[in-house]
Amino acid sequence: MKITNIQKVTELSKGLKALVFISFLALAPSYFSQGEGLFKAKCATCHAVFNNGTGPKLYEARQRWDDAGEGDLIYEWVRNNGALRASGKSQRANEIFQEYKGSVMSIFADLTDDQITSIFDWVDAQDPNAQAAGGGAQAANVGGTEMEEEKGIPWMWVILGVMFSIIIMAVGGVRRQLKIATKESEEGQEGLTYVEEFKTWAWKYRLYVGLVSLVVVLSLLVGFFQTLYGVNLMEGYQPSQPIAFPHDVHAGVNGIDCKYCHNSVTKSKSAGLPTVNVCMNCHKKINGEGKEYQGEINKIYAAAGWDPTKGPSGEYTNETSPIVWNKVHNLPDHVYFNHSQHVVVGGLDCKQCHGDMAKLKETAKVQPREALNKIQENIDSKIEFDRATMTMGWCIQCHEQSGVSIADGKNDYYTEIHDRLKKNDYDLLNAYNEDGRVSVKELGGWECSKCHY
Ligand code: HEC
Ligand code: HEC
Ligand code: HEC
Ligand code: HEC
Ligand code: HEC
Ligand code: HEC
Repeated sequence: MKITNIQKVTELSKGLKALVFISFLALAPSYFSQGEGLFKAKCATCHAVFNNGTGPKLYEARQRWDDAGEGDLIYEWVRNNGALRASGKSQRANEIFQEYKGSVMSIFADLTDDQITSIFDWVDAQDPNAQAAGGGAQAANVGGTEMEEEKGIPWMWVILGVMFSIIIMAVGGVRRQLKIATKESEEGQEGLTYVEEFKTWAWKYRLYVGLVSLVVVLSLLVGFFQTLYGVNLMEGYQPSQPIAFPHDVHAGVNGIDCKYCHNSVTKSKSAGLPTVNVCMNCHKKINGEGKEYQGEINKIYAAAGWDPTKGPSGEYTNETSPIVWNKVHNLPDHVYFNHSQHVVVGGLDCKQCHGDMAKLKETAKVQPREALNKIQENIDSKIEFDRATMTMGWCIQCHEQSGVSIADGKNDYYTEIHDRLKKNDYDLLNAYNEDGRVSVKELGGWECSKCHY
């Protein structure tokens, strides 16, 4: 009897430790101001506070728009810079776009005025002198972001630690006083440390402690994941490309297989983009003469160093320069995503994640969830996204909704899992199959380490 109690108490204390850890994880982001959080999650990949990078420095950007008499338009710029440029009502928008030719800023349609204000408030509150003292252009570039984060975290640990110890000691102290006062202290309990007393106390009121912890943990977790789900929205992102390459003409009208150009998609992690030689396989002949797109084909020739006027049918004489396509889909470095796993093992169609490329008249873009929800393959597989494409929520949601057939013997990986479960854990297999399918989640597709390095 005693032993089991002790075991339970140990378990409970493990639970409490986990609670402290999880609440730290969950509380951490809210300690940074909203503006800083948004800046780091959404803007820092392209913008630094004090230095120009992929995008211009954001320090006093508001001031610059004010000076141009367009202070209000900066909000529209952040939400949809393309639309603002197209509207023709902002000169600043076109100027800055010209200055950064070739780079396009993402769209942040769901940011409110308050959120945008909070970003610029935080940016403008940074100290330019501290940056200079930090030295070096490189240091300044990351200065606004990582360095401060590192400074912040140990402090939070200290504060949280002190808070928890105070609470624990206070609770223990009060109990101890009460017990001494009422002399109801049980034998063997005297001389216990605060921690032990707390454990005993927590055990005595385990139902309440359990319920309260459960509610706290759940609400913290929900909040934590909701912030994660929202980071770094890419939906609709369509950077400008060096050549106006239409997918519909190639993959649609001319029926060229996706793998002809993205030839590593079934073999490796990344799908790969075609080199200029692949284009030349066809475009040596298809030279667009007299067509309105001839200029685009000439760009291929320029990249390949091909001179169509030399020799009977052209020659490689000029200097070559690779075509630099801008990346459209781009996961952060800490995420692991593997194409062959999804396309070959998972048996998914490109459409389910990229939309119907064979109908796309323009260059590639990140398809919004509404478009993916209209794809027949997704409807058939009962996959419906309400999380933004390319976010963590999007991956997770599909892993919960997609079933994989593990028993049809078509796939060694699943056959192995199936055999192992049949042999060792039939109950688990049946539990998996209860809803008529085994989901990716059930096979571990929700484990952090599967997707995160
Ligand atoms: C994918 C890269 C990228 C991301 C992410 C990004 N921007 Fe930009 N931003 C740019 C580029 C590039 C420009 C320069 C104009 C252009 O080429 O479109 C720019 C220009 C700007 C300008 C105009 C600056 C000036 O001096 O007039 C503002 C303001 C701005 N961005 C704010 C933001 C904010 C706020 C965020 C985060 C919510 C953000 N940007 C996220 C790339 C990005
Ligand atoms: C499960 C969803 C999913 C499926 C199915 C899928 N992709 Fe992707 N694709 C992605 C993601 C996510 C990225 C971004 C990868 C990154 O940034 O590391 C991507 C990136 C790409 C890229 C950019 C280059 C690269 O490798 O990063 C190409 C090209 C591409 N996919 C083509 C295809 C083709 C062709 C198919 C079908 C044979 C396909 N994809 C199927 C999700 C998918
Ligand atoms: C397997 C053959 C093939 C390959 C490979 C190929 N193309 Fe094409 N491309 C075509 C055909 C066919 C057309 C349509 C010609 C027409 O209808 O006049 C075309 C048309 C085009 C056009 C004009 C489309 C328009 O209507 O505006 C561009 C631009 C283009 N290709 C770029 C490229 C680039 C860049 C590559 C390499 C990444 C490439 N192509 C690879 C066959 C190919
Ligand atoms: C003739 C060659 C060719 C064929 C065929 C082709 N693509 Fe592409 N694809 C390209 C080129 C070139 C780019 C880069 C330009 C762009 O982003 O549009 C690209 C870009 C992409 C991207 C975005 C890459 C990124 O940076 O995230 C995806 C996704 C993609 N293709 C999917 C497909 C799918 C799915 C098919 C088959 C239905 C297909 N492609 C067929 C040449 C091709
Ligand atoms: C359209 C649905 C879909 C989307 C979206 C999707 N996945 Fe998957 N994923 C699958 C399927 C189906 C499998 C099963 C294939 C397998 O078990 O290898 C899988 C398997 C995986 C696995 C292997 C899991 C394991 O247990 O071994 C990883 C890792 C993974 N996906 C990462 C990602 C990431 C990262 C994203 C988001 C960028 C993503 N997936 C988006 C459907 C999807
Ligand atoms: C199926 C794949 C998948 C699984 C499982 C997964 N993640 Fe993620 N996670 C992602 C992707 C993709 C992103 C990037 C989202 C973006 O850029 O919008 C991400 C982003 C994050 C970020 C935000 C970092 C940033 O870019 O700001 C954190 C933190 C994180 N994940 C933690 C976790 C934890 C903790 C777990 C386990 C409970 C987990 N993830 C499980 C795919 C996954």
